[in-house]
Amino acid sequence: MTRSLLVLVCLALGCSSAPAAPPPDPHAELAELDPRTPVPLLPRMAAHQRAQMRGHLVVVQEVTDALARDDLAAAASAASRLGTSDSMTAMCTHMGAGAPGFTERALEMHHQADAIAHAAREGDRAATTRALATTLASCTGCHAAYRQEIVDEARWAALTASAH
Ligand code: HEC
Repeated sequence: MTRSLLVLVCLALGCSSAPAAPPPDPHAELAELDPRTPVPLLPRMAAHQRAQMRGHLVVVQEVTDALARDDLAAAASAASRLGTSDSMTAMCTHMGAGAPGFTERALEMHHQADAIAHAAREGDRAATTRALATTLASCTGCHAAYRQEIVDEARWAALTASAH
């Protein structure tokens, strides 16, 4: 038998003694492809954060729409839903407990949204638009830096032990 025939027979019969590789874990594969800093969250926190985020996007959509219609009162009213409040601060602090720097970015973005509402109440269309642009830069900056990572109770407790 020629050498190349031997190789072919060997391939056909599966002569390798190496064990079959385990099937790839799709979550681990995605995490490896995504270099952003993980924000560890319990599943219910992750779902809540996503719902909040979709609400944030509705606010910036409404502010843009109001600006296009020159309705600064509507812009102020929409932006105030994105502004700083005790409950928002508490929520962002909780969400960022396992990811250094996350809460600071979140609170910064809400401060910038305060500036949208302030400028709109003053009737300053240009300043309102500028504050909207600054706020959106905070949104995109954080999205470029962080991603959600779903963890169980034990891992959450371990990761946030020093934050309590
Ligand atoms: C402090 C960080 C931070 C800021 C600021 C921030 N986000 Fe997010 N946002 C996230 C993270 C983390 C995710 C989850 C992304 C992931 O895992 O890929 C997310 C996801 C989203 C999603 C997807 C929601 C879903 O259903 O999957 C939307 C929409 C969104 N953000 C809108 C906004 C808007 C609009 C702003 C600004 C007004 C904003 N975000 C500001 C961190 C932030």
